[in-house]
Amino acid sequence: MAQQLVRVDDRQFSLYISEAEIEKEVTRIAGELKRDLAGRDPIFMGILNGAFMFASDLFRKLDFPCQITFLKLASYSGTGSTGTVKQLIGINRELRNRVVVVLEDIVDTGITLETILMQLSGYQPAEVRVATFLHKPEATIRKIRLDYVGREIPNDFVVGYGLDYNEYGRNLREIYQVVD
Ligand code: IMP
Repeated sequence: MAQQLVRVDDRQFSLYISEAEIEKEVTRIAGELKRDLAGRDPIFMGILNGAFMFASDLFRKLDFPCQITFLKLASYSGTGSTGTVKQLIGINRELRNRVVVVLEDIVDTGITLETILMQLSGYQPAEVRVATFLHKPEATIRKIRLDYVGREIPNDFVVGYGLDYNEYGRNLREIYQVVD
């Protein structure tokens, strides 16, 4: 049995989504992807670090020809008034005319995803879809179409299943919510 309470770094978290519930949602999304994209040779694009677990669990459930790659988003401060500039690291495949499915751990404000989608459009894919395991609708300020969503959750901080708190907790098999 999973513990109901865990400590991650200096905070306490309580069990929110069990391993069995996660598995159920991942299986459902895999079915939706098969229905929509089997035969279209899609390329999945896991966004590091957080999406590595979701990407791995989802990908092994796909039983049609498809590919996977991973991307990392680098942030650095630009000079002058440009503010923060984000760059994608790791697009070394030909995406032209491909169906690309971005795999995210969580969509919070949507700013990260917006950046990724804007940059991906420059590679001229046939179509870009988004699958995210979690979505915080109340926090999302960018209008982005989410094609596949595991769970919608309230605007509370969560950890586990790839998601971190101060880089800890990614290894938890369940998702936990902060206790305040
Ligand atoms: P966004 O750009 O605000 O949508 O945030 C996206 C990123 O913020 C995610 O990929 C996560 O890395 C991080 N994030 C947002 N909410 C949480 C959370 O509740 N727990 C852990 N990380 C989070």
